[in-house]
Parts: sequence; C-alpha cells; structure tokens
Amino acid sequence: MKRVSLTQYLVEEQRLNNSIPAELRLLIEVVARACKTISHAVGKGALGEVLGTAGSENVQGEVQKKLDILSNEILLEANEWGGHLAAMASEEMESIHPIPNRYPMGEYMLLFDPLDGSSNIDVNVSIGTIFSVLKAPEGMGTPTEQDFLQPGSKQVAAGYAVYGPQTVLVLTTGNGVNCFTLDREMGSWVLTQRGMQIPADTKEFAINASNSRHWYPPVTRYVDEMLAGETGPRAKNFNMRWIASMVADVHRILNRGGIFMYPADQREPDKAGKLRLMYEANPMSFLVEQAGGAATNGKQRMLDIQPTSLHQRVAVFLGSKNEVERVTSYHQE
Ligand code: AHG
Ligand code: MN
Ligand code: MN
Repeated sequence: MKRVSLTQYLVEEQRLNNSIPAELRLLIEVVARACKTISHAVGKGALGEVLGTAGSENVQGEVQKKLDILSNEILLEANEWGGHLAAMASEEMESIHPIPNRYPMGEYMLLFDPLDGSSNIDVNVSIGTIFSVLKAPEGMGTPTEQDFLQPGSKQVAAGYAVYGPQTVLVLTTGNGVNCFTLDREMGSWVLTQRGMQIPADTKEFAINASNSRHWYPPVTRYVDEMLAGETGPRAKNFNMRWIASMVADVHRILNRGGIFMYPADQREPDKAGKLRLMYEANPMSFLVEQAGGAATNGKQRMLDIQPTSLHQRVAVFLGSKNEVERVTSYHQE
C-alpha cells in the first residue's frame, strides 16, 4: 500500500484544489506535531507523572488536570513562533493569547480544547484535542477577544485528535473529512480514511442519561421514543453509547453514524448547556457537516450562531442528519 503522509496530503490539496494556502498548511502541521507530543505524554501515563489534578481551576470553575495544563502549554509553545498566527484562545485560558512581539504575526487565529474528556484521563479511556481555525478580520490591529467572535461558518479548518488505542487526527479544511493515523514508530501521520461520511439514519444515540430528570420536554420526548424500541413510535430498537469524551463519541459517529446530544437542562436555566461553542461545538459541527451530517443547538444550525463571548456554552445535537433534524423539529413544535 502506498502511504500518503499528512504533509503530502496537504501539499497535493494545495496544488489540486488551491484550498490550503501555505500558511494554513504550516498551521495544520504545527498543530498535528503538537498533538503528537501530547499523545506521547498521554501514553506515558503514571510513568510520565502526567495523571491527577493540578490544583487549579479554569475560567469555567472546573478543576484542571495536569494534562489539561500540559497540553495547553504544548499547543501554545508549538504555535507561537511560526508566523502563521495572530492570536490563540483556549478553554483553559481566561483571555486570548496574542502572539508575542518577538515573532511575526500571521493572518490566522487558532482556538482549542487542549484536552477533551478530562474525567477519562486517570482511568485510561480515550481522550483528545479539538481545534478550530479562523481568519483574522480584515485590517485587524492588536487582536482582541472581539476578533474571535465569528460564527462557526467562518472556520477555515477544524479537527481533533483522539488519544486512544490508536492516535488519530481527523481534519477538514472545508473539502470533506479525512483521517490520519499516527505511525508511532515512524512518528508520522498517515492518511488512513478519505472522505468520511456519516449515514443519514442511525440506531445509536449518545447522551448522559443521568441528567434525564432535568431535561426539557423535547429531549425527554425524543429519548423516550427511542427507548420505546420496536413497539414504540419509532418502530425500531436503538442502542446507547456514552464515552464522556466528546472526541471519542464524535469519532464513533463519523465512522458509523449516530447522534450525540448534550442539551441545556432545567438545573441552571441561564446556562445554555455544558459544552463550549468556540472550542468544542463549532469545530465538531464543521467536521460533521463536512461528512454529510447535521449539527444544531436544538433551534438553529450551530455554524450560524453569532458568538457573544469567548467561553460561551451551547446545547449540542449533532450527527446523523435525519435524527438531528427530528430532535430539532421537536424543539420547534
Ligand atoms: P472537557 O474535558 O474538555 O471539559 O470536556 C468534557 C466534555 C465532553 O468531552 C464530554 O462529552 C462531556 O464533557 C462529558 O460530560 P459528563 O461528565 O456530564 O458526562
Ligand atoms: Mn472538552
Ligand atoms: Mn478540555
């Protein structure tokens, strides 16, 4: 089998479709290299003293794990000096991170969830990194938080890495979704899946059912109908999966379909869900749409939402198109 590396894929894509400018290619390669470093640290586990909590909290009031902080530092360091970025923003940092003056400033802006699935780190279950790339607004001076507040439809690239039994990198630049597997001996990313497609129908759903007593009626109705199985209104049996790492749940859906939900609920009516629009929902929604699926917040297309703050949360419904459309229509009734 002829192996196509990430570099070769990006160069060919640039040549054939002119879809990946040189600076964006550099950006993607740098992020991929950082993910390789994170994968290596994750793989060491207790031997690398990377497990456990760091003794601090992030801006959302969540306890930070050592790997949350380490992964954040790896991504910052890797991306600072290349000249491809104007600024970065991360789930783990309260304010944006402009590129230091000693380095040239580029035209892209990078956002990331450095370590997704933190509750799974210490129990050796798949975790990952999610990233989103925006262009700096025309004529931008010193970057501010405001410059990042662009709807997801403006993303020029997005992707995630899963640190699981295999380390994979799933990427879109707006021309389909491709998956690269890390060859751990060679240290290189190899193209292993081209044009990933999510089937429109599915018999599998993912939701944290322990929150069911807090759900709003449209979500309860939708899930109850699935649970009713063959003799219920859907007339088929559904299976449930919940990994508690969005990267791993989305990776399953990109491979064999399904719907992933993290709804807003009645516990804190002012809180629009748990997941973050800019670091989780938008990049995943871009990937899912590029693979033929759909993504909404229950009311509107995720990628059309105009963000109002960097760390804002959002309800998430994404995956197989017909299921996402169904649960979204229940919200509209
Ligand atoms: P993070 O580790 O970046 O904070 O994200 C965790 C997210 C997401 O990956 C996952 O789907 C969800 O939280 C799990 O939530 P529950 O703990 O409620 O299952
Ligand atoms: Mn996350
Ligand atoms: Mn995280």
